[in-house]
Amino acid sequence: MSSPKRRLLVTSALPYANGQIHIGHLVEYVQTDIWVRFQRMRGHEVHYVGADDTHGTPIMLRAEKEGLTPKELIANVWKEHKRDFDDFLISFDNYYTTDSPENEKLSQSIYLKLRDAGLIEMRSIEQAYDPVKEMFLPDRFIKGECPKCGAKDQYGDSCEKCGATYSPTDLKNPFSVVSGATPIKKVSDHYFFKLSDPRCETFLREWTQVKTPLQPEARNKMKEWVGQPGESKLGDWDISRDAPYFGFEIPDAPGKYFYVWLDAPIGYYASFLNYCQAKGMNFEEWVRPDTRTEQYHFIGKDILYFHTLFWPATLHFAGYRTPTNVFAHGFLTVDGEKMSKSRGTLISAHSVIESGFNPEWFRYYFATKLNDSMEDLDLNLQDFVARVNSDLLGKYINIASRSAGFLVKRFGGVVSDAAMNNPLLTDIASVSEKIAELYEAREYAKALRTIMELADKVNAFVDENKPWEIAKDPERESDLQRVCSVTLEAFRLLSLYLKPVLPQVTAEVEDFLSVPAMSWNDVKAPLSSQNPIKVYKHLMTRVETAQIETLLAANL
Ligand code: MSP
Ligand code: ZN
Repeated sequence: MSSPKRRLLVTSALPYANGQIHIGHLVEYVQTDIWVRFQRMRGHEVHYVGADDTHGTPIMLRAEKEGLTPKELIANVWKEHKRDFDDFLISFDNYYTTDSPENEKLSQSIYLKLRDAGLIEMRSIEQAYDPVKEMFLPDRFIKGECPKCGAKDQYGDSCEKCGATYSPTDLKNPFSVVSGATPIKKVSDHYFFKLSDPRCETFLREWTQVKTPLQPEARNKMKEWVGQPGESKLGDWDISRDAPYFGFEIPDAPGKYFYVWLDAPIGYYASFLNYCQAKGMNFEEWVRPDTRTEQYHFIGKDILYFHTLFWPATLHFAGYRTPTNVFAHGFLTVDGEKMSKSRGTLISAHSVIESGFNPEWFRYYFATKLNDSMEDLDLNLQDFVARVNSDLLGKYINIASRSAGFLVKRFGGVVSDAAMNNPLLTDIASVSEKIAELYEAREYAKALRTIMELADKVNAFVDENKPWEIAKDPERESDLQRVCSVTLEAFRLLSLYLKPVLPQVTAEVEDFLSVPAMSWNDVKAPLSSQNPIKVYKHLMTRVETAQIETLLAANL
């Protein structure tokens, strides 16, 4: 049954260190964590790493505003992010920072390899510059009037009023968001990664269209971006920024820094390197081109370009292996709309905990919405309450509470071994590989639907057998023990299937059923009379509709 042991390096995108983790981010970390926990249960060697993405202009300016050094700011934010990930049971093996010595060394050495391969070119370009603040201005830091409709206070890329898109130079009466000054044009030298080089083009066409089993939507997007042979649609990538900038200095170019998106994905490797050093593992073995290890990146659809073009090209031409695959998910909306501060739907991870929500409710709900596509998913707050209460409480937890009491009170918690051959149990165990395939394919919605159908069958079994009636008849002792044993073993199997999604509650189940931490193979290790179960303690509470109000209010 079980496949040979695989060796997997898994990442989630590195969140920016200038804001809180919100429930949109959590979709991604929960999606990844479920997959990682599933792979661990299958007995594979899995290493799940992450880090804060700490460099760039917004972080530098925010630190200044708060009267902190960038390093102080990112240290504070790291603690908050780590707390939030722990709260939501995200099981990173290492959570690091891109502002690390490992990342600096790796980024510089990768850059030098690209340069030696003839793929770095210096060019002078003209850019917007804030003459008061004395810094170049990223597009997001220039505002002005929309060239089309005249709306005031619009960003340099598009108008929120009329939807027009344009470039910052088209804005009327532009001003710097940093100082209010009118930007001027200024020339400076920039370093480019020559993606237009025929070698890159050939490599990326092969990598995105043939070699990597990308999601169909992703592959099509890449096809557009990479273009036909000879069409050379790829522009060179500007990887440098001028001082002042919070980042790593480019080795042969004093005063020039790596653009944050150059060192951010390398931060995956830096986090893994840091972890390998702590664990005495051989980092090189995982990253060399002929490695047999697998490398997966979970990301949101907005950063596909960086992960399926820039990142594989960077790795390949610097002499590293490339990702085995990149898994992109869609964006979370709340009640059908983009999350919004003014509606209170930009819900921070911390506010969820503070408002008394059980994080596993969210893990479960997101999982019921997740599949292998890049489609957006919606958190409908009414549906959330209904789903959690009817599925988790009404269908799943209910099974244990209906049968455990009798077994403990009347049989000292001892199950009947003979009951383990019951057809209901054979039935539930027989779909274990189907459910495993669904987890593997990131079809969590389907996996959970299958599991909840099994829960329905178990509840029907209890309803038909009516243990509460049998219990009244002293002649039917062994019947009662059989029915309760079947029910609890069914509950164990459902718990095993749900374990990647609900690690906390299923750990409590393991304790209550007196079984060791379950792996996937334990489908075949039923409850035994040798290990009596313990007294049932309440495993999970219901969501109250009033809690939703509290949550929204906390985010206004
Ligand atoms: N720092 C970059 C990633 C660098 S990876 C080398 C970044 N950070 S982010 O904080 O903006 O986003 C982190 C992840 O959360 C991204 O994969 C992004 O797509 C995801 N999400 C952010 N908002 C989201 C939703 N509303 N819904 C689902 N995922 C969302 O991008
Ligand atoms: Zn406009």
